[in-house]
Amino acid sequence: MSVLIKGGRVVTADEDRVADVFIEGETVSQIGESLDVEADRVIDADGKYVLPGGVDPHTHLDMPFGGTITCDDFESGQTSAAFGGTTCHVDFVIQPKGSTFTEALEQWHGRREGKAVIDNGFHIAVTDLHEGGTLEELATLPDQGITSYKLFMAYKGAIMVDDETLFRVMQVAADTGALVMVHAEHGDSIDVLVKQALAEGKTEPKYHALTRPPETEGEATNRAIQLARVAGCRLYVVHVSCQEAIDPIATAREKGWDVWGETCTQYFFIDYSFLERPDFEGAKYVYTPPPRPKENQERLWEAVQNDVLSVVSTDHCAFLWDGQKSLGKDDFSKIPNGGPGLENRLQMIHEFGVRQGRISLSRMVELLSTNPAKYFGLYPRKGTIAVGSDADVVVFDPERRVTLSASTHHSRCDYNLYEGTEVTGSPVIVLLRGKVIVDGDEFLGRAGEGQFVKRARFGEQLGGRSRMGLVAG
Ligand code: URP
Ligand code: ZN
Ligand code: ZN
Repeated sequence: MSVLIKGGRVVTADEDRVADVFIEGETVSQIGESLDVEADRVIDADGKYVLPGGVDPHTHLDMPFGGTITCDDFESGQTSAAFGGTTCHVDFVIQPKGSTFTEALEQWHGRREGKAVIDNGFHIAVTDLHEGGTLEELATLPDQGITSYKLFMAYKGAIMVDDETLFRVMQVAADTGALVMVHAEHGDSIDVLVKQALAEGKTEPKYHALTRPPETEGEATNRAIQLARVAGCRLYVVHVSCQEAIDPIATAREKGWDVWGETCTQYFFIDYSFLERPDFEGAKYVYTPPPRPKENQERLWEAVQNDVLSVVSTDHCAFLWDGQKSLGKDDFSKIPNGGPGLENRLQMIHEFGVRQGRISLSRMVELLSTNPAKYFGLYPRKGTIAVGSDADVVVFDPERRVTLSASTHHSRCDYNLYEGTEVTGSPVIVLLRGKVIVDGDEFLGRAGEGQFVKRARFGEQLGGRSRMGLVAG
């Protein structure tokens, strides 16, 4: 099967030009002006953008958390991703306490098999590390394509790790070349503040934010950076939400340390006041770190402009408002932490980043696709449009007007964080490895066609298929 995408504005992190893209089988085989080729299907992309498929490095599909399970499984979550122009993501395998990493990975493979409609890799989240067992096992994971280790510095009593575990994982990463990812909040002080708030009868959703002040994020971010320097590993700070966390990352990057940071779409748009919405509506915005005071939003835009933060992910961790968030009706600490958003990242960043003049189209591609592919060992197979790369391509109509809503999105979530937001610009055709999986409002992907991607280590480029390894399912 061959596809010719004709006359679109092909935008990568480095280039922005009108060209044809010719796809043979699963890969891009030619890019150029007025290509003289025969194709099985020709897509007229005149007036459209032709973008590399989005890579979302931070998602939680079918994940047990907060006493329940996230409402999107791999099929619904990935279908939603595809409609939003994301063709690859890296999901978190959370090691159940007492399990080996191999057991945890088996569980997560079982969750995606037969359901996956786009490609994905896995990070491993370490919760239980001991010598003579998981400590040694951890070192074997990069050779299996699991090249990032995640540590939660919060969620005390659940998945939080102590500093010894954090540091030991960092030392393993320094040896294996894996990237260490941290959820950076000071879990001990938050735990005290939550208990004190509840003892005082403070139970509404807004106390989720009031018991996790920005300083707790700043402290943990700085601690992780300093410990990573001692251990000599690379560090990636997930879901940065506020100035207090931006500052230590900015310092680290100025000094040339191996530190990178990500923010998520929601932190640009949703502020603390959303948590104060009446009738338990605030629970929709209970995710962690929490929505911050509004002034942080411009600081986040500046940080992505200046490359202090270099990725925008979604942290899609969706729970139903009716039936799951309601577990915390009388106690904010029982509201499962997480929000939806996998489908709307490109539309929102295009509208408020590109159309409102904050970032260029190429920078948008870099933040949503190229940088996550590079940092997480997917580049150049993913994250760009180049000869030899996977033909994961989004044909994006910059004039298409859409109103974002739970009534039209493809996630199972019963609310949308951006409900009623009008955007101009949306994907119209999405290809996964050369196959059209979204055509207008129609989904043409098939469960089981998404592939598991074994990722390279940070800085190692993936080109040939032999190096990458793919598992259908
Ligand atoms: O509230 C959130 N973000 N839930 C998902 C788990 C995490 O902390 O990333
Ligand atoms: Zn987190
Ligand atoms: Zn997360």
